[in-house]
Amino acid sequence: MASQSVETDWKGREGPFSLLLGPGVFSPTTTSRTLADALEITPGDTVIDVGCGSGVLSIVAAKLGAAKVYGVDLSQRAVEAARENARRLGLDHICEFRAGDLLEPVRDVRANVLIGDVSGIPDSIAAESGWFDDVPAGGPTGAELPAKFLRSIGDTLAMGGRLYLPTGTIQHEQAILDAAHEVFGDHMRPVLEREFPLPDLVARSKAVARMMKEGLVSFRQRGSRWLWQLRIWRCDRV
Ligand SMILES: C[S@@+](CC[C@H](N)C(=O)[O-])C[C@H]1O[C@@H](n2cnc3c(N)ncnc32)[C@H](O)[C@@H]1O
Repeated sequence: MASQSVETDWKGREGPFSLLLGPGVFSPTTTSRTLADALEITPGDTVIDVGCGSGVLSIVAAKLGAAKVYGVDLSQRAVEAARENARRLGLDHICEFRAGDLLEPVRDVRANVLIGDVSGIPDSIAAESGWFDDVPAGGPTGAELPAKFLRSIGDTLAMGGRLYLPTGTIQHEQAILDAAHEVFGDHMRPVLEREFPLPDLVARSKAVARMMKEGLVSFRQRGSRWLWQLRIWRCDRV
């Protein structure tokens, strides 16, 4: 992958460090930074990072003291980049990356921390934003893929374990929260909330206008900018 690789600097939690991104590998965003800030890792934890992309959050978890981190991504290219990133940082004895759908590649693992960062941007917004290249987006309302992930957790999260889940007003957030509630009951709470400006191109798009009209997404206006709200939930398995 060397010839077409690009690098980016991670300046979020436990940074700075450099990350190799192959073509089509998701470049960490403000959501990645917020999720990293929300993570609570206890030395010795076993972590599964679903939708690991470049491996950035797996690496942060390893640097925070996790004993073992399993990163999963549907994209083979992401998994290869993540392996290389962990190797360069001397964390390849802690971080293991597997390619496949959601939790299928880690059914043999029982984690006490789950990071659930699969794509949750509505397909139509993703197509107009350019945030995703050849990686899949979250489905028609952005809730379909995260909800499928939540319903597939099964035994991969041990009793007493916790999930970190990002949701936002840029997707059909309530549908994701309903799915999380099915799995975790009332044992879920937002641990971090931040607002970010919606890129002008996206704010002016037909997709956003239609989804606002349907009540699926919502934004707060500040001056000429529209802001969307990101929440990181901690969901406890009790
Ligand atoms: C929003 S990106 C987050 C990447 C990374 N966690 C970060 O913060 O930079 C979502 C990732 O989910 C992956 N993904 C999408 N569908 C998936 C699936 N069904 N199973 C596993 N990973 C998936 C994408 O390839 C992408 O790398």
